[in-house]
Amino acid sequence: MDQIEKQIEANKQAWSKLSKDHYIHYKEKLLRHELKLNPMVDAELGDIKGKKILHLQCNTGADSILLARKGALVTGVDLVPENIFYARQMAEDCKLDTLQFVESDILKLTDVHQGQYDIVLTSDGAIGWIPDLNQWGKVIAHFLKDDGFFYLHDGHPFMMIFDEDALDKGELVARYPYFKQTADLDDSIGGYAGEPMKADNYYWGHQLSTIVNGLLSGGLYITYIKEYDRCVSGMGGSTLDANGLCYYPELEGKLPLLLSLKAEKKS
Ligand SMILES: C[S@@+](CC[C@H](N)C(=O)[O-])C[C@H]1O[C@@H](n2cnc3c(N)ncnc32)[C@H](O)[C@@H]1O
Repeated sequence: MDQIEKQIEANKQAWSKLSKDHYIHYKEKLLRHELKLNPMVDAELGDIKGKKILHLQCNTGADSILLARKGALVTGVDLVPENIFYARQMAEDCKLDTLQFVESDILKLTDVHQGQYDIVLTSDGAIGWIPDLNQWGKVIAHFLKDDGFFYLHDGHPFMMIFDEDALDKGELVARYPYFKQTADLDDSIGGYAGEPMKADNYYWGHQLSTIVNGLLSGGLYITYIKEYDRCVSGMGGSTLDANGLCYYPELEGKLPLLLSLKAEKKS
């Protein structure tokens, strides 16, 4: 195993510790219809009824189910076998038969899955787990139909430089480098849908240029990039606005918390 493979394996082990808790957390909310698709994602995707969606890094399938409830035909993909087990269980609990789930490292998905999709989607805490965005761009392009689109909604790379505790106090303290060549090691994972767990894990803090160039190297055309000063819970800021989105009150309107982007495969 090379170093990246060892890091991916560590991430697989780390995420698997959270699977059962995430399933329990999201199942209750889904069965009570209390969980809503991220409103920014919902608005940008538009009408997805009848669309075939490949949902990358689906975890235990909560967002996959919300997409399916809007009429999409969803294939969720995740690295962790336990996540896939619980995602299938969750679809059954929600009495949906328009979803399927595939266990795979995103970068190796072409080895184990075939299909052509109208939309490939990844959101909220996804791309930092992917070490090579050039290969990622190629995988995304491979699974898109001609005239299909890729949609990304994830943490803004600019926010990766700030000290998290200082942000909570409304202060901007640059703590981490923006330009990184290697993964960051953390010894704790999760905490947004259950208790965090102790487990070594590796995170690649990508630059904006790395994201854009990865998609271009896959042959995709970027349609737009948007930046938001709001995010869903667990992605930064703990104060909720009227729409249930998080932000930092003292820094409102000053910081880009989230980035969204659409890219197309032209025929
Ligand atoms: C924060 S969660 C993403 C949750 C997401 N918001 C959703 O739509 O459900 C990150 C997910 O990425 C998965 N993951 C990490 N590395 C991966 C990889 N190389 N290939 C596929 N999935 C991966 C983890 O197992 C975890 O479920």
